Amino acid sequence: MYKIFNTVEEVSAYTSQCILKTIQEKPNAVLGLATGSTMKPVYAHLVQKLQNNPVDVSQLTTFNLDEYLGLSGEHAQSYNYFMCEHLFNRLGSPIGRYNLPNGLAEDIEAACQAYSDIIKQVGGLDLQLLGIGSNGHIGFNEPYTSFSSRTHLIELTEQTRLDNSRFFTDKSQMPTHAITLGIQDILEAKEILLVATGSNKAEIMAELYASDVNEALPASVLKQHSKVTIVLDKEAAALL
Ligand code: GLP
Repeated sequence: MYKIFNTVEEVSAYTSQCILKTIQEKPNAVLGLATGSTMKPVYAHLVQKLQNNPVDVSQLTTFNLDEYLGLSGEHAQSYNYFMCEHLFNRLGSPIGRYNLPNGLAEDIEAACQAYSDIIKQVGGLDLQLLGIGSNGHIGFNEPYTSFSSRTHLIELTEQTRLDNSRFFTDKSQMPTHAITLGIQDILEAKEILLVATGSNKAEIMAELYASDVNEALPASVLKQHSKVTIVLDKEAAALL
C-alpha cells in the first residue's frame, strides 16, 4: 500500500503516528528502527507526540537495522550516536531496552548470529521502520544480498559510500563495511513501513514500483510481505 503526502512534515507525522499506535496497542512491542536523514523528522515528531501524550515506553524493546563496522557508539557518525541524539536521549523516560549491532564486536560472526537470535527470542519485530538507499538497499543489504540472509557483515558499495560520506567531515573516515540485519529478519517483521522523501529518492522509488521481486533490488523483496506501507512525499513519488 502506498501513502503519498505533500510534505516531509506530513510523512513524518503519519509515520510517527503509526509507531505511537503500535506502542499504545502493545506496550511491550518490539520495534525495528532505522537511521538516515529521512528518519530525523520522523523521530522529532515521535518525541513531540510522546511529550504531549505520555505513553509507557519502559517495556518497549528496539533493534536498529545496522551499524558501521569499526565505529564506537561515541563516534558522532555511528548509528548508536544517531539514535541517542535523535530519539533515546530525548524521551522523558528511558526505553525498556534498545539494541544496535556492535560495530566493535571482537567476534563479528557470533555477534551477528546473536543479534538475529535475540530478536526471535523476544518474539520477533512487531513493526519495522525502513528507509531506502539510492541503490535500493534496505538496512545495509546491498544489491544481490541473499533474500534468506540473517544479520551479517557487508561490504558497502561505492554508491552507498558516496551517498553516506556526506555525513563525514573527513571522508576518509567513511567505513567500508557495516553490520546489517538480514533480509529474512526484516521480512519476518509483522508490519513494515518504508519511508522515502525528497527528489533524490524519486528514481529508485519508480524502479521499485516497476520491478519484479529480484535480488538486484533488495527493497523489491517487500512485495512478498503482506503488511507493508510505503510512505512517500510527493517529490519521492514524482516518477511513479
Ligand atoms: C543508510 C542506512 C539505511 C537508510 C539509508 C537512507 O544507508 N543504512 O538504513 O535507509 O541510509 O538514508 P537517508 O534517509 O539519509 O537517505
